Amino acid sequence: MFARTQKSTIVRSCVGPMIHIRTLPPGGAERIIDAVFNGLSPRSRYLRYHAPLPRLSEAVRRQLADLDGRHRSAIVAEVTDGPEAAPIGLVELADTGDGTAEVAIAVVDAWQSRGVGRRLLRAAAEHAEALGYTRLHGRVLPGNDAMRRLTRRTFPQARLRLGSDTDALDVPIGPAASTVTHADVLADLLHRGG
Ligand SMILES: CC(C)(COP(=O)(O)OP(=O)(O)OC[C@H]1O[C@@H](n2cnc3c(N)ncnc32)[C@H](O)[C@@H]1OP(=O)(O)O)[C@@H](O)C(=O)NCCC(=O)NCCS
Repeated sequence: MFARTQKSTIVRSCVGPMIHIRTLPPGGAERIIDAVFNGLSPRSRYLRYHAPLPRLSEAVRRQLADLDGRHRSAIVAEVTDGPEAAPIGLVELADTGDGTAEVAIAVVDAWQSRGVGRRLLRAAAEHAEALGYTRLHGRVLPGNDAMRRLTRRTFPQARLRLGSDTDALDVPIGPAASTVTHADVLADLLHRGG
């Protein structure tokens, strides 16, 4: 279900009556990046940024906010709290070439395990497919069971490759999602064992 507003595109309105999910328009993303970062515990920040970050440096913040809606885009989940919409989750997509979008996601701790991550990831896949991407790619720290399970539950076609520093999650999307190779079957067996 897609609808247009002046400010942005609503990808999907749902997760109960108060939450909606929308793509961020280019420009003005800093407030949302800050709000989501401030809602993350030290462990969630570590899992998201792969480093113990007490705060976002200005350089990283600027880079994250540098969206063009095509090669770098982001989708936010917000809960309506009075006149203001409070950001509670953010998924970012970055073009890495070869039809692949690198995905990074975070849901503020107070809203984790309530289905926000799953909806954000689904919206990210729809958005990426609409932009012509054929694969999502994510780097996940070993031990991040929430992200591994979230990906597996959201995308049964996801493949996990174990690495020394980070594990790689690959999700074929669009027509590529229904192409199953021998390597996929083996990767799936390993994935489900993990
Ligand atoms: C990973 C993360 C995005 C999940 O978001 P979420 O909103 O909590 O996830 P959901 O509530 O949509 O859960 C969807 C599925 O994920 C799995 N899951 C979520 N949290 C989990 C946890 N703590 N432990 C195990 N599985 C978990 C469950 O299987 C769940 O499916 P189910 O409802 O059928 O059981 C969130 O925990 C987070 O922001 N973590 C910190 C940042 C991070 O790790 N980012 C990923 C690196 S790119």
